Amino acid sequence: MTFTNRAAWLPAEKANPLVVESAPTPDPSEDEVVIKVAYAAVNPADWMSQDSALPPHIKFPFILGLDVAGTVVQLGSNVTRFKVGQRVIGHCDGLATAKASNMGFQLYSTTREIFVSAIPDSLPLENAAVLPVSISTAATALFVELKLPFPSLNPKQLGRRILVWGGSSSVGCSMIQLAVAAGLEVVTTASPANHDLMRSLGASQVFNYHDSDVTDKLLAVLKAGDLVMDAISTENTQTKCGEILGRLGGGTLPVTQPQAGTFPDNVNVVFGKISTIIRVASTNQPTVICIHLGFTALEVGNAVWREYIPKALAAGQFQAKPDPVVIEGGLEKVQEGIDILRKGISAKKIVMNLS
Ligand SMILES: NC(=O)c1ccc[n+]([C@@H]2O[C@H](COP(=O)([O-])OP(=O)(O)OC[C@H]3O[C@@H](n4cnc5c(N)ncnc54)[C@H](OP(=O)(O)O)[C@@H]3O)[C@@H](O)[C@H]2O)c1
Repeated sequence: MTFTNRAAWLPAEKANPLVVESAPTPDPSEDEVVIKVAYAAVNPADWMSQDSALPPHIKFPFILGLDVAGTVVQLGSNVTRFKVGQRVIGHCDGLATAKASNMGFQLYSTTREIFVSAIPDSLPLENAAVLPVSISTAATALFVELKLPFPSLNPKQLGRRILVWGGSSSVGCSMIQLAVAAGLEVVTTASPANHDLMRSLGASQVFNYHDSDVTDKLLAVLKAGDLVMDAISTENTQTKCGEILGRLGGGTLPVTQPQAGTFPDNVNVVFGKISTIIRVASTNQPTVICIHLGFTALEVGNAVWREYIPKALAAGQFQAKPDPVVIEGGLEKVQEGIDILRKGISAKKIVMNLS
């Protein structure tokens, strides 16, 4: 069967608006899955990619979009984990592969099997679409950079806490849940309106980051040896997280944007560049970075995407949060979705209806 594809294209560097035109018919390689996209979520990376230069290995025209939920319509020859017709989510890693076919804002997204998970019938596709990139980002921080035990439905309690700065962000919501599934107790920060959500995801304590004494309040409940990660990663949040980790005795501080703060000497800042990890993950080959970290990223992708996430979603132990704000109107409205997110959002995710 052939599929008539269309996409919201970024025709040139910093072009605005995106242009909706036909796109190549999917032609999956052996380890790829073609997903008929029902919903595609918008991420900060989308407006950042539109507003600045893309990495030099990306050629224009290109497609943005990192998160999809939909139905499997075609399988690469090596893919045995899925069936045509199955409901799935997928993390679209075309910024790493430089293949527009691997991106999300198109009717048919070709996604690598290791970043695809089945979802239960009880989970609506528009909710499920919020998850993929946040899962990969959280997994990179927790299981590659902090080298925590892989997530489990019955985790062994590690007797340690982690501060997740910015728990109400998309990344934060998955970070809290994966940290709990790794056996950590989670302390987080969010605006007061989102404190109940944070607790419902498993955080034991939530602090208002707008409080001028929030650092002291956090240090009063954390102890030496506890962990810190910054899901927001502005210069200000990186600096605060660095100060807290430094006062707890130091260690590795995962951040989600390039290093921008000032840090004490005992804090080792690591930018969770999932694009690097993703490129490695699909090849089956350990690389220098992964050997250095003592993991192969494939092990992380396997433990999280193939093992834990499908089971945890089916068991209701991993929630699709934050809730979506669905924008109707198809590919023609993707630019509008990107523009809304550019202005900022609180504990919500912009999700485009492409069905
Ligand atoms: N490295 C990667 O590959 C990768 C992947 C995904 C995302 N990222 C980056 O990770 C960051 C988060 O992305 P996202 O999609 O999760 O963001 P998001 O959901 O759009 O973030 C919105 C949330 O940020 C919270 N927030 C804003 N300023 C804060 C602060 N100073 N302290 C604590 N919370 C704050 C808000 O909390 P309240 O409403 O509760 O105030 C809001 O709920 C972005 O910089 C993004 O580019 C990186």
